[in-house]
Amino acid sequence: EKGGFKHFMLKEIHEQPHAIQDTYRGRLLASKGIIKMGSVDNNIGKFLNANRIIIVACGTSWHAGLVAEYLFEDLARIPVEVEYASEFRYRNPIINKNDVVIAISQSGETADTLAAIKLAKSQGAFVFGVCNVVGSSIARETDTGAYTHAGPEIGVASTKAFTTQITVLALMALKLGNLKGEISNSRFNTFLQEMTLIPSKVEELLKINSEIEKIAAIYKDATNCLYLGRGYNFPVALEGALKLKEISYIHAEGYPAAEMKHGPIALIDEHMPVVVIATKKGHYDKVVSNIQEIKSRNGKLIAIVTKGDTIVKEIADHVIEIPETVEPFTPLLSTIPLQLLSYHIAVMRGCNVDQPRNLAKSVTVE
Ligand code: M6R
Repeated sequence: EKGGFKHFMLKEIHEQPHAIQDTYRGRLLASKGIIKMGSVDNNIGKFLNANRIIIVACGTSWHAGLVAEYLFEDLARIPVEVEYASEFRYRNPIINKNDVVIAISQSGETADTLAAIKLAKSQGAFVFGVCNVVGSSIARETDTGAYTHAGPEIGVASTKAFTTQITVLALMALKLGNLKGEISNSRFNTFLQEMTLIPSKVEELLKINSEIEKIAAIYKDATNCLYLGRGYNFPVALEGALKLKEISYIHAEGYPAAEMKHGPIALIDEHMPVVVIATKKGHYDKVVSNIQEIKSRNGKLIAIVTKGDTIVKEIADHVIEIPETVEPFTPLLSTIPLQLLSYHIAVMRGCNVDQPRNLAKSVTVE
């Protein structure tokens, strides 16, 4: 049932090339230069007239929502707010007529997200769901939506659900950006072509599994770990930290790289591993200076860089190379090594990777 893998999590990490392809199959028609999504097409007026998009989700799905904030604002120029579903409902939120609410959930059963949807609907909002489980409560409760088609995700730590959620949300942002005239047809086509290359780039990345295992062996006994990223990679840093803490029980925090100097830098010494995502596009020079600040305080640096990088290689203790892509798709690649790193560390610490303590696959209590 685990397809030859030791754990569901490892199997699901390796399923990502196919899962991403299944997500865009039938939707991304690169040769025709179009993105076809029935539920978006049928409600196109609502999306194009949206004053803003409010995203509600929890955990990893909330991180996908943060990536979507960058995607919708950057590509479609629609203002976005991303809310923890649990906080949204208790804040007496302001929901306007032209707001579009997007609820993201792998299981489609998360109680907090479901409650946020009910509240948004009661205030007249149009609610769109991005779910993985077909026929789930959230899929039924929302006005319409798009499935991720990632296939069953058994490991409590969400992996392929995250990358496929980002895939769906990227398709939506690209489609709306093109329709709004924010993305020219030629740039749009470049994005479509690039999306079709993502599965093979993920495949290529999975080949460095043993390299990551070696790094994991060095840091498996750490008690703390920091994850830093900027722009599109900031939510990836949060997701990397969540993956590590939930399955290995190592305390980890994700931060926007530039926030480090406003506090967390005080934590850095020779015992602190710092994972920095420093890919070529996306404020590279700024991240390099953050990296220098960490090094000069003797922090242990694990850097995720774009293939061919030379500058960070000189400074970091370990570098993990990822293939180049367009900036908005970077999270689809930069996430993969972080999933593998937390997986190997958890295995080496003897943790129950697929069913970590105190956690359930779907959180059906509020
Ligand atoms: O099923 P959902 O996407 O609604 O679940 C939300 C969170 O409970 C979930 O992502 C959780 O944070 C995972 N254990 C993260 O790996």
